Amino acid sequence: MGAAGLRRAPARPGDPSPDALVEVLLDGGAHVPARPWVDAPEVAGLRLSDARALPALALDGSQGGWPRTLARAGFAQVRTGAVTQEGADYLADIGFVAVRRLVVLDREIGPLRSVKAPGGERGSMRPSTGRGARILSEAATLDDTAFGPVWRMVERDIRDALDATPSARLRFHRGPDGALVAYCITGRGANQGFLQRLAVHPSAKRLGLGRSLVVDGLRWCRRGAAPVVYVNTTDDNDAALGLYHSLGFHQRDEYLHVMQAPLAP
Ligand SMILES: CC(C)(COP(=O)(O)OP(=O)(O)OC[C@H]1O[C@@H](n2cnc3c(N)ncnc32)[C@H](O)[C@@H]1OP(=O)(O)O)[C@@H](O)C(=O)NCCC(=O)NCCS
Repeated sequence: MGAAGLRRAPARPGDPSPDALVEVLLDGGAHVPARPWVDAPEVAGLRLSDARALPALALDGSQGGWPRTLARAGFAQVRTGAVTQEGADYLADIGFVAVRRLVVLDREIGPLRSVKAPGGERGSMRPSTGRGARILSEAATLDDTAFGPVWRMVERDIRDALDATPSARLRFHRGPDGALVAYCITGRGANQGFLQRLAVHPSAKRLGLGRSLVVDGLRWCRRGAAPVVYVNTTDDNDAALGLYHSLGFHQRDEYLHVMQAPLAP
């Protein structure tokens, strides 16, 4: 399912503040942060790495626990990040529904044919530098233009994406007027790489910028000895699927799901 029907919702009085941070206790004692979804502050965004670790408490509020914690903080809904099919099945059993389905693709790092970057400045940054802070804000503006409301990433999400793997980097292209027109975040973990985010400005599409950034990310993964690189996208994203297939990615026989459930007041 795509983003149809999900729109940027105005904040209502009583919605949690955009910076609210609530912790949800998982089975096993770990805490998961929940934050207001950027364009729907009544929705708590839960960053679950293993959905099955979420205790199966009743979503009607009768048992209290994590649903009650989120409802008391002002949230009306809870939405996960991308979870595996197994996690999604578990969550469906406790009252969640899928609001987005993502295709997973992978590519073994073999030979990479040379791809020349089109004109314009090309740069990289580390998230901790002052220059980095400016890039994060520019990347967030570009991300909004490329992805639109609901699924865009704001600065804090971009920072989270950079922090999600042991090493990560952001690479970008500027247009002739100096404005950011494309950016990509690639992450490396143990034995695997991830294309975490890729956005090209609508005015700069089909110029080869997306391809050059993906190839650049693949090279970086290869230098870090990551033998395989993963990426996910929605199954209706023909441009992204065309790009990844053209670069040798293969669709895996699995999906990821973003799951959502209402919380009792
Ligand atoms: C997907 C996206 C990054 C592609 O960037 P781009 O710079 O326009 O892509 P490129 O010019 O490098 O295209 C490289 C190849 O990808 C494929 N491709 C790109 N756009 C395509 C489209 N609209 N339809 C089909 N294939 C497409 C083609 O094979 C293309 O090669 P060609 O131009 O020689 O035919 C860009 O459309 C975008 O930012 N979309 C919105 C955000 C998004 O979906 N990000 C990816 C999420 S995972």
